[in-house]
Amino acid sequence: MRFQSLVLILAVLFASFATNQAIPPNNLRRININDPRVIEMAGFAIIEHNNQITGAKLRFEKLVDGYIQKVGLETDYHLTISAKNGSTINNYEAVVFYSPIFELSLKSFVLIHA
Ligand SMILES: *[C@@H]1O[C@H](CO)[C@@H](O)[C@H](O)[C@H]1NC(C)=O
Repeated sequence: MRFQSLVLILAVLFASFATNQAIPPNNLRRININDPRVIEMAGFAIIEHNNQITGAKLRFEKLVDGYIQKVGLETDYHLTISAKNGSTINNYEAVVFYSPIFELSLKSFVLIHA
């Protein structure tokens, strides 16, 4: 799953680089890191991670990068988030799932840079 997402990200990056387009093919789209809706998703990922892991106290720093994958009415936000863990700032990769029926959930949250 992780390897597949990496391949997907690389394919998306390569495709947008090769064609010099902001919009990747298929149903994938690069995020705008200033989009308040996407920042809200990143904030949700941090809060949800802190709720799920006992003692976790990450603090959102900023949205670094990411892409949005839409399938019908459902959306996966694949986000690279910079967050503070105590005095250390790390990058995390989060996948937030949004559906009008199921609302928001955190599909995955992993440390990508220590
Ligand atoms: C945060 O830091 C603590 C203490 O160093 C560590 O045990 C924990 O795994 C870190 N959590 C994340 C999500 O980086």
